[in-house]
Amino acid sequence: MNAAAALPPVIAIDGPSASGKGTVAQRVARALGFHYLDSGALYRLVAFAARQSGAALTDEAALGAIATTLNVRFDGDEIYLNQLVVTDSVRNEEAGKWASQVAVWPAVRAGLLARQKAFRRPPGLVADGRDMGSVVFPDARLKIFLTADAATRAERRYKQLIGKGMGANMAALLQDIRARDERDSQRSAAPLQKTDDAVLLDTTHLSIDAAVEAVLARYKAVI
Ligand code: C5P
Repeated sequence: MNAAAALPPVIAIDGPSASGKGTVAQRVARALGFHYLDSGALYRLVAFAARQSGAALTDEAALGAIATTLNVRFDGDEIYLNQLVVTDSVRNEEAGKWASQVAVWPAVRAGLLARQKAFRRPPGLVADGRDMGSVVFPDARLKIFLTADAATRAERRYKQLIGKGMGANMAALLQDIRARDERDSQRSAAPLQKTDDAVLLDTTHLSIDAAVEAVLARYKAVI
């Protein structure tokens, strides 16, 4: 058995913002009894911590230091930073926008690497993000590239925000999603892209249930 085969299996689910990958990844993890890594939350936390400390989102050295020393704990749906619940503050649209600004810096990505790899524990891991299959877990057992067209993603995000009782504007959401797609796929450090060995799953006309089933069926086919 080689070293990679001895490590717990990983299912990498990458894709653009609001593609539904977080929900799908969490449900797949639950179905298999696997651990779950929401890597986007780490980038959101770096951005949030930087804003709190007054560091500029362009100060790569300061952001890299924050990424390396981040005192974070995930507990169910809650996210703790320095023992304080910050879930709502890091899950909002603004934090997502800041996250994609700090995510362009190699020092931030390097600072978060070991932390992400540490989520790989028995019996397995489902990891979602932008570079799970390309950089963090290149030896993932299954790689999925989950996407949907931008208008569908904006509509889903709109319904989600309205459902939470938060204000939302369709045109602004669509504009933000397009700007984030552009920034995430055009950056030089770990850009969002489908790798050749990833399975494309377009959920524009697919329900969450169907997407979860599709990922589970693919996984059963490779184990
Ligand atoms: O997935 P989520 O929307 O929470 O991610 C927020 C931002 O963090 C993304 O727009 C992206 O710029 C960045 N990110 C990243 N690599 C990851 C996960 C997220 O660059 N693996």
